[in-house]
Amino acid sequence: MNVKMTVFDSDKQKGAYDQKFSVEEAEKALSFHSGLEGYEATPLRKLDALSRFLGISGLYVKDESYRFGLNAFKALGGSYALARVMAEKTGKGLEEITQTPAGTFTFVTATDGNHGRGVAWAAKNLSQKAVVYMPKGSAKERLENIRRLGAEAEITELNYDDTVRFAKSQAEKNGWILVQDTAWEGYETIPTWIMQGYMTMALEAVKQLGEVRPTHIFLQAGVGAMAGAVTGFFSNYYGDSMPKLSIVEPDRADCLFRTAKAADGTLHKVEGDLDSIMAGLCCGEVCTVGWEVLRHHGDYFFSCPDYIAADGMRVLGNPLGGDEHIISGESGAVTTGLVYRLMMDERLEKWKKAVGLDRDSVVLCISTEGDTDRENYRRVVWEGWYCDPDSRK
Ligand SMILES: Cc1ncc(COP(=O)(O)O)c(C=O)c1O
Repeated sequence: MNVKMTVFDSDKQKGAYDQKFSVEEAEKALSFHSGLEGYEATPLRKLDALSRFLGISGLYVKDESYRFGLNAFKALGGSYALARVMAEKTGKGLEEITQTPAGTFTFVTATDGNHGRGVAWAAKNLSQKAVVYMPKGSAKERLENIRRLGAEAEITELNYDDTVRFAKSQAEKNGWILVQDTAWEGYETIPTWIMQGYMTMALEAVKQLGEVRPTHIFLQAGVGAMAGAVTGFFSNYYGDSMPKLSIVEPDRADCLFRTAKAADGTLHKVEGDLDSIMAGLCCGEVCTVGWEVLRHHGDYFFSCPDYIAADGMRVLGNPLGGDEHIISGESGAVTTGLVYRLMMDERLEKWKKAVGLDRDSVVLCISTEGDTDRENYRRVVWEGWYCDPDSRK
């Protein structure tokens, strides 16, 4: 199966949530994160040799594998949300929450790995408890990384969306606090805090870009919370000169693509096993808050087979010329993999033209994770698994 794309006719108006993702809110999140131990802005790599090879003017990739030593951007959301919840519940300021007695709160979440690791890390830093549930088929390495941070963690027999429902029911039953990285009607405050935490990486990126304004931004999506937050920030920051925005998903879990394609005012789901190597993006139900932003600012929605992510991992892991080396995992690499294919694969010529990628384009991608499943990373990058079946001679 090949890449699919739909052009979405967003109205470019301000939506109900745009002010939640303002530059001021991003400054607040960045200021919070800057106070955490181990904080450092992650590098924004300028891949000149690759952009020359692809025939575009510039390619920037923000490398989130360096985030807090956790190999993914996700802890930005968990840490900010835990702090906001505790501040609200204790009536203290964000800077005083560390005085909360140990074990006062138990936070629970469902995760494919990265979010749960972030929540476990944040709970440990604040001496609180964390319980983490993972969907069936989750990598053992990701489970162990969460347990190592002191959280109670287990792999369930459920898919991602049912694991979220299970975590919610456990929260209700035990009086725990659900810290879920997706929103639905009636559960939007905590996910919005998580999303505001993600804005730190977007604010860092624009500071690192300086005078450079990208013409195109590619963002990967699972439920679309990260893409929604970052898009909200960029649209507030760039205003009328907002770059063209592409949202990229695995074809096995392309709920945003389906929602954009139908454009009928309802959210569309993907059910079943959601079986893709892009574990972080294997979510079948759209985040309501994320969609509220994307429906106003999204331009193109892509649904991609696994080999697009694998291409991105190989391209970033084997740099040309003097370009920096980026270790990018499946969910991190799919956007760069797509840009690579759009420029190099004749079968995607019509999508390249629709998106308007050419020699003047300046592209921004975020590699949202490093090799969070090292066994699969080696299969892909060393052993050449997940190649385009039609291009193998
Ligand atoms: C590495 C990585 N990238 C991107 C995402 C997508 O985030 P969202 O589910 O908010 O769309 C995730 C989600 O877990 C992830 O782990």
